[in-house]
Amino acid sequence: MTTLQTTTPARLLYLHIGSKEPQRQIDFYERLMDLSCTRYPDGSAVLLGPQRAVRLSPADRSGLLAAAFSLGNTEQLNRLRERLEHQGCATLDTQSPLLADGAFSIRDPQGRETLFGVPSELIEISREGMPGRLQHVVFQTTQLEAVIDFYVNTVGFSVSDNVVDPESGQLMVCFLRSDDEHHSLAFFRGSQDEWDHHCYETQEWNDIRDWGDRFAKEHITLFFGPGRHGPGNNLFFMVVDADRNRLEFSAELQTIPAGQEPGHWPQCEHTLNSWGRAWMRS
Ligand SMILES: [Fe+2]
Repeated sequence: MTTLQTTTPARLLYLHIGSKEPQRQIDFYERLMDLSCTRYPDGSAVLLGPQRAVRLSPADRSGLLAAAFSLGNTEQLNRLRERLEHQGCATLDTQSPLLADGAFSIRDPQGRETLFGVPSELIEISREGMPGRLQHVVFQTTQLEAVIDFYVNTVGFSVSDNVVDPESGQLMVCFLRSDDEHHSLAFFRGSQDEWDHHCYETQEWNDIRDWGDRFAKEHITLFFGPGRHGPGNNLFFMVVDADRNRLEFSAELQTIPAGQEPGHWPQCEHTLNSWGRAWMRS
């Protein structure tokens, strides 16, 4: 099986976030995430920082509009597009200030938009700030099997770990990788279809401490963690942004060699946080 990891490795590059109160979000990401903002005439904004970026658009409802993944070069991008079309997945030309010409988008069976492209010059400029590379995005879904089938068999993600209900054997969470990192995308079975969280990978445990201290100065309390996840074995904590979207900070995320069989975990608090209490989605 041809996978993203083996033929066209992809990394999460930026998120396109919609907000009912975009200025409040701009203030949050500038002040707390070291991003600098450029506004565009259509009311949208691009926020750029060290190894992380957000595109922000005014919207009726706050949430994620799209996630953009970067490919190593144009040849790999075109190769991925050919493979997707061969698999019967429609691709659409798309333009973004953060992607070079040739970028395209796809939609999953539930309508989530994913962009693929090569980073534009704008995003390649090095910037100052605390370490935290935008690394993964996670959703809750009412159609877990259908979306996993799409991302694995059509797009080419690889399953790193499955979490299953120990009584029913039903799949509850699936962690998917698009390069050597344990996951760049994951899905939780949920009673609603919603954006679960996104994550910034730091360099070490001390960075987690420093991010925690930064949020503490603004009296933004952690709502999950600190702890260590079972799948991925990464240290983490989570907070919320100005729209109450969930952000995670992580360190020590595992890498997984191509071809490794998926791991299996029981659905329980210890799997999601081996240090203690876990946020259990329902
Ligand atoms: Fe996460």
